[in-house]
Amino acid sequence: MLTLIPKEIEKYASAHTIKESNVLSELVKETNDKTTLPEMQVGHLEGAFLRLLIRITSAKRVLEIGTFTGYSALAMAEGLPEDGELITLDKDLEATEIAKEFWQKSPHGKKIKLILGDAIESLKKLHGSFDLVFIDASKSDYINYWNLCMPLVKKGGLFAVDNVLWSGRVLNPKEESDIAIDEFNKYISEDKRVEAVILTVRDGMLLAWKK
Ligand SMILES: C[S@@+](CC[C@H](N)C(=O)[O-])C[C@H]1O[C@@H](n2cnc3c(N)ncnc32)[C@H](O)[C@@H]1O
Repeated sequence: MLTLIPKEIEKYASAHTIKESNVLSELVKETNDKTTLPEMQVGHLEGAFLRLLIRITSAKRVLEIGTFTGYSALAMAEGLPEDGELITLDKDLEATEIAKEFWQKSPHGKKIKLILGDAIESLKKLHGSFDLVFIDASKSDYINYWNLCMPLVKKGGLFAVDNVLWSGRVLNPKEESDIAIDEFNKYISEDKRVEAVILTVRDGMLLAWKK
């Protein structure tokens, strides 16, 4: 992933952000060693930001689309209260085995429930209501995830969507994923059901408040 923020700035921000838990740091190492696309993890800064969002919204029930090796799920679970619940969806058996192994090492892992399978199919079977949804799976399905999640999110709930600047490729979309993200951003900016803002955090993060 081409980084939009200068490396030194990212490093400085990370150094002055709440420290990553040991389990999360170990999970980063394991993901680097065992997977081919470790940069898919949200990482320290965005993980800490997601955790903060959970805290400031007092979220208790969270839905995540795109688990991978479990970094963002665990970062968010760390911000949930003891009786909080996070449901996370993914179809990758191998990556989610790593996720489960590391969640077990954390006292917050018990708050996480993984649903394996195609995210669209899993979403069709889910019932509300969620306080916060984090979307971070197939870019070409972002609009579908969004619309399937809408009835599941409570009024006043929050959407967080990752990679909406797509390494800057949204400025000159060429490939299918570039076009999909650009279309998603246009769709959301006109969606009257929410108030949305794009933050230039990492690869771009869209936050939206459901009216
Ligand atoms: C960018 S990664 C998620 C990273 C994760 N949030 C983290 O911080 O580690 C995207 C994930 O979406 C999953 N995914 C892609 N298409 C999917 C689909 N149709 N159904 C379920 N999961 C899907 C992939 O298997 C991959 O693990």
